[in-house]
Amino acid sequence: MATLLGGLGTSHVPSIGMAIDRGVAGTPDWKALFDGYEPAKAWVREQRPDLAIVIFNDHGNSFFLDKVPTFAVGCAEAYAPIDEGFGKPPFPDFEGHRDFSWHLVDTLVESRFDPMICQEIEVDHGIQVPMRLFFGEPGARWPVRVVPIFVNCIQYPIPLPSRCHELGRALRAAIDTWPGDERVVVIGTGGLSHQLQGTRAGFVNPAADRQFLVDIAERPDMLAARSRETYVEMFGSEGAELIMWLVMRGAMNERVVTRHSHYFVPASMTGAGMIVLENAD
Ligand code: DHB
Ligand code: FE
Repeated sequence: MATLLGGLGTSHVPSIGMAIDRGVAGTPDWKALFDGYEPAKAWVREQRPDLAIVIFNDHGNSFFLDKVPTFAVGCAEAYAPIDEGFGKPPFPDFEGHRDFSWHLVDTLVESRFDPMICQEIEVDHGIQVPMRLFFGEPGARWPVRVVPIFVNCIQYPIPLPSRCHELGRALRAAIDTWPGDERVVVIGTGGLSHQLQGTRAGFVNPAADRQFLVDIAERPDMLAARSRETYVEMFGSEGAELIMWLVMRGAMNERVVTRHSHYFVPASMTGAGMIVLENAD
């Protein structure tokens, strides 16, 4: 049986990736943010995961508004990182795990989730930035294989927070019934508070963000019961990406321990948060 090592959460702000690319991660503007990830990176190195299941949203790069799946699962051999306008990303493709992906899709359908199945798809900053933050720069190949789960956070209506939490439980069933001996981490991405558009563009809510980093560990049912409108009010229209952390949390035990967490605001227009959770029992 596979081993679930932990659940990680992080923001996925694209300029974090650009700060790495341009060699400015150690400058005063960025150092505190990157330093905050060092304990999480050390945790990842110690735990030696070989499979990362990453829940993220595409931002109009792989899916445009003409076709947006509510939930989708990558079932590809590999996932190329998309050039979002700043050149070809300076790291290799993410190697996939097709057999686990198909097992996940089977389990989801049997759990009455019906995801879109993607056998050829590229991936944007929603996954690129979290992978770089937790695994560092990979050299010739990434140290883990990747299974991406796409959640629509772009085209309303986005899925209910409670539905995302349930999706996480179905993901856990897939991990628990997988016959392989992979060492697995589940990564929820996006958020924390940010609004990139409209009259509230630039909105951040550091108090709500800091409370979310506590509640995701201790009160996930409360977070799952909130409405989508509440997420938009509290965290901004793009801050509603936090529903994807509930997928990660749903895959964990009811009781978890927070090993590491960090918060930095603003990273670009976002309250940038990170958490490392382990199952308590
Ligand atoms: C920003 C944050 C995001 O989550 C995103 O997808 C794009 C941009 C930002 O703060 O710049
Ligand atoms: Fe985003």
